[in-house]
Amino acid sequence: MRLSDARVVLTGASGGIGLAIAAQLCASGARVLAVARHGAALGALLARYPQQLCWVNADLTFLADRRKVLAAAEAIGGVNLLINTAGINHFAMLEQLDDSDINGMLALNIAAPICLTKLLLPLLKQAPGAMVVNVGSTYGSIGYPGYATYCASKFALRGFSEALRRELADTRVGVLYVAPRAPAPA
Ligand SMILES: NC(=O)c1ccc[n+]([C@@H]2O[C@H](COP(=O)([O-])OP(=O)(O)OC[C@H]3O[C@@H](n4cnc5c(N)ncnc54)[C@H](OP(=O)(O)O)[C@@H]3O)[C@@H](O)[C@H]2O)c1
Repeated sequence: MRLSDARVVLTGASGGIGLAIAAQLCASGARVLAVARHGAALGALLARYPQQLCWVNADLTFLADRRKVLAAAEAIGGVNLLINTAGINHFAMLEQLDDSDINGMLALNIAAPICLTKLLLPLLKQAPGAMVVNVGSTYGSIGYPGYATYCASKFALRGFSEALRRELADTRVGVLYVAPRAPAPA
């Protein structure tokens, strides 16, 4: 797929990695729906690429907001690239975490990308070629102390990606799991 032909739903677009992806996509000529609850970090990019970039204000843990993303994708004529970047991490030993923190991580890091992918699949399948990119972590392969729930969510995202890739093998939709590592200390 040429990025200039990409119509992208990018979650986590206001975060460190998402914002960098949004900037690269826009510079390559892609049309980007930037999904996040807060738009401030996207301000400069929105001003620079008013024709290409659009902010969709959505909390991905809510079905109604995921449906807003679907509606925005339909409004631009479909989507051929879904990048699930949104994710959170609370570093703490398991006993120190509130249940709300645990449930929040699982809701955003694994339930939300699964449900959003399911919602957008009919649109993705309509494209001549499409891709789902799930942003995991090296902690999706290594269980690390202080990250038990985060690791569980990223292991799950890796398993979801592998299974969905096989499930969609006879379609024009590919699935990619990418696993960034933490930045090296300066
Ligand atoms: N940074 C790293 O070193 C690193 C390493 C490995 C993997 N990763 C993974 O890479 C991804 C991005 O990391 P990052 O460092 O860019 O994170 P970040 O800067 O903390 O950004 C997190 C993003 O998730 C969005 N988000 C949080 N809660 C949300 C919700 N309920 N609904 C919708 N969006 C929500 C945030 O947007 P709003 O708050 O505006 O909603 C923000 O755009 C994550 O999946 C992370 O696990 C990061």
